[in-house]
Order: sequence, then structure tokens, then C-alpha cells
Amino acid sequence: MQFDFGRGGGPAHVTIDRERCTACGLCVRACQGGPIYLAEAEVRVDPSRLFGCIGCGQCMTVCPADCVTVTGRDLSPSDLLELPRSDASAGYTALYSLLVARRSVREYRDQVVPPEVINQITRAASTAPMGIPPSEVGVLVFAGRDKVQAFRNELLRELEGMRWMFSPAALWLMRPFMSRESYRSLKAFVVPVIDAYVEYDRQGVDAFFYRAPVALYWYGSPYADPADPYIAATYAMLAAESLGLGSCLLGFPGYAIKYSRRLKSKYGLPRRLQPGIVMVLGYPAFRHARAIRRRFAEAREV
Ligand SMILES: Cc1cc2nc3c(=O)[nH]c(=O)nc-3n(C[C@H](O)[C@H](O)[C@H](O)COP(=O)(O)O)c2cc1C
Repeated sequence: MQFDFGRGGGPAHVTIDRERCTACGLCVRACQGGPIYLAEAEVRVDPSRLFGCIGCGQCMTVCPADCVTVTGRDLSPSDLLELPRSDASAGYTALYSLLVARRSVREYRDQVVPPEVINQITRAASTAPMGIPPSEVGVLVFAGRDKVQAFRNELLRELEGMRWMFSPAALWLMRPFMSRESYRSLKAFVVPVIDAYVEYDRQGVDAFFYRAPVALYWYGSPYADPADPYIAATYAMLAAESLGLGSCLLGFPGYAIKYSRRLKSKYGLPRRLQPGIVMVLGYPAFRHARAIRRRFAEAREV
């Protein structure tokens, strides 16, 4: 079956420069069951295998003779980059230090985040893995407190407008169609949080976007894996941390946007999208003196 959905259109095209190919087979090992295979000591390409080439580009990056070309699905040889020097990469200790020190930041200094710093963050996040390339993730950048606050106010109005869906009567009607966990989470978490956002707002407190100077809204097209925007946002959080910024993910806005035609139209978003997530960021107002040990619900060898 041909692979023809999403931004990439149809499958990508792979060509091998036979003059230079030594049939070492590294591209085949990187491709693993895709359209590239070895037969009679020759690398061959069969676009009908599986769903054709998804354009991951690994055959190009692994080839020692530089003789593989992939074009299509938003990829071309001009996307190949020199690898950073190995002494410029973070080892485990440096990476773990960054990870363990990161906190969700909910108070920001009144300091502008320069556009080039925002670009560094989105550039780093664009390296995030995605379900199927090319990335189906989009990001809207709200730079400056005024723009962030305007966005926040729109979302709050939208959430207020949705509040009736979570009234006791509506919840009672929906109850038979919901899992126990969803019902409890709506009643004990979603409803009180929306009410608190609105109530704090009346008191002039921004408990929703924390008066952050920048907000990035990561969303996915209907072709995206629902995790794609979250993975990109997580990469962005770590990039922000490495640049001395703090950030916080906000789960509610994505749903307000997904179900609001008005907001999608206002911000030029696709009519159908995966809700994704908002990340607010800025220079943290204070530093944490300690880190926290976290545990997974389960981590066991089987
Ligand atoms: C998917 C997701 C949604 C989140 N939504 C919110 C949110 O709406 N508001 C908020 O203040 N924090 C939000 N957070 C941040 C978490 O509350 C935070 O990770 C948690 O407090 C642990 O703190 P830490 O990140 O400093 O370890 C979210 C985090 C994730 C992963």
C-alpha cells in the first residue's frame, strides 16, 4: 500500500549512485524492512515494499560513500548537516544535570526573551522524533506579554463558554458514557481548575499563563501521532532550560482551541487538529535550591 498522507504527500524517492555504491549494506540495516534491500550483492530499491519510503533520511546519513539520495516528503539532500563535533555533545552527566534541575516555572522576571533565543528553542525542538516524518507539528509563537495575555484572555473566555458542559446536570447525563477515571478527573480536577482560573482572573491573578513573556502553542495535524506535539514541547523545555530560561507546560489550552472554530480561524490554524500543548516560558523569577527525586509508577524488569 502506498503511503500518501500528511504534509509529505506520497512516498519519497530513493536513488543509489551505482558508480560509488560498495554494497556495504549499511543503508539496508538503517532502513530495516523498508524499500531498500540487498539482493545479489547489490543495494536495490523497491518502492512497493511495505508503504514505500517515509523519508526518514537515515540511508543518506549512514552511507559512507555518500551515494544515497532521498527526495520527497519534505526531505532532500540539502537537509544533510555536518555532525557536531563529539566534544560539543552533552554526555550523560551534563544531560542528567539539566534534566534533574528543571522545574516547571510559574513566576517570571519582567525581562524580554530575545527573538533569537526563541528561535534557538524552536530549532532545537525541531530535532524531536516524530511518529512518521515529516513532522506534522506546528508551533504558534506568542512573543511579548501583551500578545501572550491577549491569547490567554481568549482561551479563558473559551473555557468559560465550555463550562456548562461540566455542570452537574451535564456530567450526570454523560456519566454512563464515561470511564470512572474520566468522570472523576472531570469532576475533581477539570471543573475546579477552570473555576479557579476564572476566579483568580477576577482577582487580577494570572494562575493560567503565569504572566509569562512568551507562549508557544504546539499542535499536531490530524495525521500526527497525538504524542508528537508533546515530544516537541518537551524538547523545547529542555532547550529553554539550557539557555537559562524556565518553562511550564499547560494542558488545558489545547482542548479549548481544538473545540473552538473561532480561535482556530483567528489564529489561522487548521480546522482539524490534535490539541497539543501550550508551553509558557521566560526568565525564572527565582531559582530552586534543591532538585527532587521522581519515580515512575512502575519500572521493573520482566
Ligand atoms: C501534559 C502536561 C500538562 C501540564 N499542564 C499544566 C497546567 O495546565 N498548569 C500548570 O501549572 N502545570 C502544568 N503542567 C506541569 C506539571 O504540573 C508539572 O510537571 C508538575 O507540577 C511537576 O513539576 P516539575 O515539572 O517541576 O517536576 C503540565 C505538565 C504536563 C506534562
